[in-house]
Amino acid sequence: MKNLYLLIVLQLIACCIYAQKTSIKNIDFKVDSVLKLMTLDEKIGQLNQLCIDFSSGPLITDQKSLEKIVVNGQAGSFFYAADMDLKIKLQKIAMNKSRMKIPLMFALDVIHGYKIVAPIPLAQSCSWDLAAIEKSERVSAEMSAAHGLHWTFTPMMDVTRDPRWGRVMEGSGEDSWLGAKIAVARVNGLQGNDLSKNNTVLACAKHLAGYGGAESGREYNSVEMSERQLREFYLPPFKAAVEAGVGSIMTSFNTISAVPSVSNKHLVKDILKTEWNYKGFVVSDMEAIGELLNHGIAEDTMDAAATAMNNQAADMDMSSVVYHKSLKKLVQQGKVKESYIDDACKRILRIKFALGLFQNPMGYFDKNRRDASLKNPEYQAATMDMAKKSLVLLKNEGNILPLSKKTKTIALIGPFADGKLNRDYMSTWTYHAEQKDVITLLTGIKSKLDPNSQILVASVCGFMGDCKTNEIENAVKLAKMSDVVILAIGENGDVNGECKSRTNLDLPGNQKELVKAIMALGKPTVAVLFNGRPLTLEWESKNIPAILEAWQPGTQAGNAVAEVLFGDYNPSGKLTMSFPINVGQIPVYYNQLPTGRTKTKPTDNMKSTFMDIPNEPIYPFGFGLSYTTFDYSDITLSNQEITATDTLTISVKITNTGKVAGEEIVQLYIRDLVADISRPVKELRGFEKILLNTNESKIVKFKISLEDLKYWNADLVYKADKGKFKVMIGPNSADTKEKIFSLK
Ligand code: GLC
Repeated sequence: MKNLYLLIVLQLIACCIYAQKTSIKNIDFKVDSVLKLMTLDEKIGQLNQLCIDFSSGPLITDQKSLEKIVVNGQAGSFFYAADMDLKIKLQKIAMNKSRMKIPLMFALDVIHGYKIVAPIPLAQSCSWDLAAIEKSERVSAEMSAAHGLHWTFTPMMDVTRDPRWGRVMEGSGEDSWLGAKIAVARVNGLQGNDLSKNNTVLACAKHLAGYGGAESGREYNSVEMSERQLREFYLPPFKAAVEAGVGSIMTSFNTISAVPSVSNKHLVKDILKTEWNYKGFVVSDMEAIGELLNHGIAEDTMDAAATAMNNQAADMDMSSVVYHKSLKKLVQQGKVKESYIDDACKRILRIKFALGLFQNPMGYFDKNRRDASLKNPEYQAATMDMAKKSLVLLKNEGNILPLSKKTKTIALIGPFADGKLNRDYMSTWTYHAEQKDVITLLTGIKSKLDPNSQILVASVCGFMGDCKTNEIENAVKLAKMSDVVILAIGENGDVNGECKSRTNLDLPGNQKELVKAIMALGKPTVAVLFNGRPLTLEWESKNIPAILEAWQPGTQAGNAVAEVLFGDYNPSGKLTMSFPINVGQIPVYYNQLPTGRTKTKPTDNMKSTFMDIPNEPIYPFGFGLSYTTFDYSDITLSNQEITATDTLTISVKITNTGKVAGEEIVQLYIRDLVADISRPVKELRGFEKILLNTNESKIVKFKISLEDLKYWNADLVYKADKGKFKVMIGPNSADTKEKIFSLK
């Protein structure tokens, strides 16, 4: 009987694999049949993506010219298309009036939610909760699809160690291994397990590659790094996304060692399309092909088109219209092979088939589904869950938190007390969300406080945190009348994001003056930070007794923060990006190399240190507090040594030694003690989030195998070294207990 059951299961698996393989073969058969019928103009049309809301240069001047472009098959996709009626109209024109009747794709940057906004991706990464992150993207995908979107330009997976760069808010922090896990969760949430379903959207892994390594954190700046560094720290999330089936990839604006990504043959053709056997398509970033002239790589648009296409890098041209203008002539002049255009076009058609657009081109345009999506309670619940889990308790001296709901008088002070400015609690990447729908901190606190309690509010300092003298004086007056002060400080969403690099990461404006005036009163004070990047909080971290990092929490901002402030949710988030002491310390990150002169004691000299500050950040990678405490004990290894085919099991006992239940993110790090090249002092290779009641203990087990020990050596060989390794376990990257094992 057992054998029969096994046989049936094996046959079922074989059918699934066969079905999957045939579906790809089946799609390619269809793609080839369509391609054969297309003219060169129509193929080039598929490579052309136009922006609807802004003018796309000479092409779109009005509605009439837009419709003509569709009739002539001169564009295969549009972005920033908001209006459902317009999308329906254009799709009907494509399907009824164009010669080839190839369906259009409509795209938008839905970075952390469509109308119901989740916390920014950097905040979400601090939850270390892959299921919640996937769910958050699922909600985003369903709302986007319900609003007629086929494709979202997300997830952004640029690893970065530089908070001066405004786009850190879009990523998953400084660690590539964690970033890869999160990239997969996001792709799965967006694309689901069947991209042809009309509640899924095409994901876009961006920005390939190295964008987070921009010199001095200055936006769009040059990137200089070895291919080894690229493969070790910047490419793993993209490789993981490709293995997870991401249907599109966007190249980055930057150069890597002076080669722009958008025309980088080695990066795109050799590594992505050949070495990784990528079958999706590559879209340039906005205007990037045209910007090859600015890079000094191309003499004119013909040269730019030829460079990008002949390097088989960008398959699709986002809004520079260089491909539209030049490719046909270039083929006629023999300067570009039509076979390259065929390959790019096939990649795009393959995804349109996979999206189900040929079978049902109008499948995403259901107004009832759109309207219903706005009222789906599950979406708000998922957003609230994600928001709570993304909050990070950075300090809680004297356990001032959680506050009592019966606190008689609370003074709520700062620009984010009752934030009404657009993007006070969300990022710039929220085209269709409205500030009026966001729960402010005041609203959240009111929903928790006893009816007899009083809240004195000073929502002051404005967009850039410029607090007027009278505002500070008024705030001090209110604080004097209160039992507890809650400071709501940080940076508005328009002060980070794309093209928002800053060299001063203190609280914007003169918020620090407000904070110091309040702290001088000696009242019990809690600070809630609303920001999109690590800030330099040296004074605040020393002088404010309790600090809660709330990031930009999105629609449920006030409710999520209030849950933590009043103890209805025990904070569990942990940082995925280090907080530097000052800008001079940047880049500061946990997985640094030991150098030849590692500082081990404060009295050390002639070691790799600064004269004026310690090497350590204010808050390290993996750091976050709870309202309870956890004890780590009994770390044991299954073996003292393993071979290449063995798996090492590491066990640790975690006990909740505090007074309330809580979640702990247990982290596992390794260190390769002797290798072909110098290896980081620690590398994250495992984590598990567990819930423990008071006095409850759990044994957490991690598995380490050869794959976890590999790295790229100087000859670009991906390998593991025999020899000694350290394995370290703890609540964050700076507080671990270690054991040694050997790889034989
Ligand atoms: C931007 C961004 C990219 C975005 C694109 C379309 O410049 O770099 O991430 O997807 O334009 O909005």
